[in-house]
Amino acid sequence: MLATKFGFTRAYGTDSRPAHLRDVTENSLSYLGVDYIDVLYQHRVDPNVPIEDVAGTVQDLIAEGKVKHFGLSEAGPETIRKAHAVQEVAMLQTEYSVFEREVEVLFPVTHELGIGFVPYSPLGRGFLTGAVRPAGELEESDMRRGDPRWQPGDFEKNVEAVRQWTELASLRGATVSQLALARLLAQGNDIVPIPGFRKAERFAADMVLTAEDLAKIKEILSEGGFGARFRPQTGQGAGEGARRQDS
Ligand SMILES: NC(=O)c1ccc[n+]([C@@H]2O[C@H](COP(=O)([O-])OP(=O)(O)OC[C@H]3O[C@@H](n4cnc5c(N)ncnc54)[C@H](OP(=O)(O)O)[C@@H]3O)[C@@H](O)[C@H]2O)c1
Repeated sequence: MLATKFGFTRAYGTDSRPAHLRDVTENSLSYLGVDYIDVLYQHRVDPNVPIEDVAGTVQDLIAEGKVKHFGLSEAGPETIRKAHAVQEVAMLQTEYSVFEREVEVLFPVTHELGIGFVPYSPLGRGFLTGAVRPAGELEESDMRRGDPRWQPGDFEKNVEAVRQWTELASLRGATVSQLALARLLAQGNDIVPIPGFRKAERFAADMVLTAEDLAKIKEILSEGGFGARFRPQTGQGAGEGARRQDS
């Protein structure tokens, strides 16, 4: 499945105007050398373009055979419903991991409408790998330097939670990354995480967790990671994806 997105300008402003959406899609088709895109996502909800117009434009692209499925990213429940009323939304991509769980408030809507859920940053942007380094040791250009979860105070508490999850995973002969992915997959058949590793050997092996494992994982950090959720592109506060995007 080939998936790509539209909706940002090069300066990270939002732009989902129909003409821009069409240009971006044509560019993607030509850069990727394909006749169609399996999943075309809107990257961020654009406050200046009604979602119905966005869904209508994607619908036209589907009718033209250039796109197979429509996806949303970081959209709230109202936006999802409005878009879905025009063009079936096949999947929603939003951050979801043991660190970031507020997004679970969206599940009743995605389940009701039959929309698949694609957790991005399922390894907590690299935190859930056991190879995390403090903000000061990251490259200058690494956006995690400004991520609240990497800031002194919260960073150490998150490291401690990862240590406990690593211990739990090792009892099952697995790595903490495998545990993090298995925990997501255990939330339902509609969940398809997209880990961002670049090395094939990092692929997770099959791991099935028991109800007891899942309860222990949750007990270690009952409310998610320490530090607010980081949203580099929009700069908005926690809750944007799940709750505030519509307001
Ligand atoms: N919709 C959106 O707005 C949005 C926003 C952000 C991300 N995404 C998507 O989400 C996907 C993943 O995002 P992400 O990169 O933030 O997620 P992630 O999977 O949470 O973290 C990836 C990081 O973990 C490291 N890593 C993975 N396995 C490791 C291991 N076994 N040991 C050590 N380090 C390991 C990777 O390092 P290496 O690179 O060295 O392998 C990489 O730095 C991407 O497809 C991205 O496009 C979407």
